[in-house]
Amino acid sequence: MKRIIGLRVQKATRKDVYQIAELSSEVAKEGIIKEFKTEEVSELISSEKYYIAAAKHDEEILGYTISTYSWGKLHILDTAVKRDKRGMGIGKILIKHLISHAIEKGLLEVYCEVLAKNIPALNLFTGLGFRFKIFSTLLGGFYGLYLPIKKSNELIK
Ligand SMILES: CC(C)(COP(=O)(O)OP(=O)(O)OC[C@H]1O[C@@H](n2cnc3c(N)ncnc32)[C@H](O)[C@@H]1OP(=O)(O)O)[C@@H](O)C(=O)NCCC(=O)NCCS
Repeated sequence: MKRIIGLRVQKATRKDVYQIAELSSEVAKEGIIKEFKTEEVSELISSEKYYIAAAKHDEEILGYTISTYSWGKLHILDTAVKRDKRGMGIGKILIKHLISHAIEKGLLEVYCEVLAKNIPALNLFTGLGFRFKIFSTLLGGFYGLYLPIKKSNELIK
């Protein structure tokens, strides 16, 4: 698999707002994720209830993940990687970063919802140890997946 040398994943800051919104708009056109507009990204980045991580190469954002703290869990709301940079491990690095963040925060679980038709995302999460929790027939079918934190420690060492 081709990897990107010099890729960094870190907490997004205000200067990342525009690029994240731009990437969100681009990937939302595929019909899988919601579009986060500039004002919304700006609001979430400033809010203590949300945690946004960005994967950067030089100063270019190649992927992001948006999550929120909810009832002792880190709930992943969206993850997106630039289309021509997929399959290079960026999604995996972003989610591992979130897992590390959840551990640092002392949270119990990382949770996400994935459309049943979204095989790349299902493989990404199950490959990192996420387990199926619920299935809903809404939205054409989606799974709720969770990773209990204590047992995930060995994953990210
Ligand atoms: C899902 C998504 C974030 C994955 O990002 P990525 O950077 O391509 O993923 P990675 O390269 O890190 O791959 C991680 C794992 O995902 C799975 N995967 C990635 N692309 C895949 C594909 N096209 N088909 C099947 N599995 C795939 C594999 O299990 C892979 O692990 P492996 O390389 O050890 O086999 C990306 O495809 C994307 O942005 N999709 C559109 C938006 C979306 O679906 N977001 C998720 C919403 S829940």
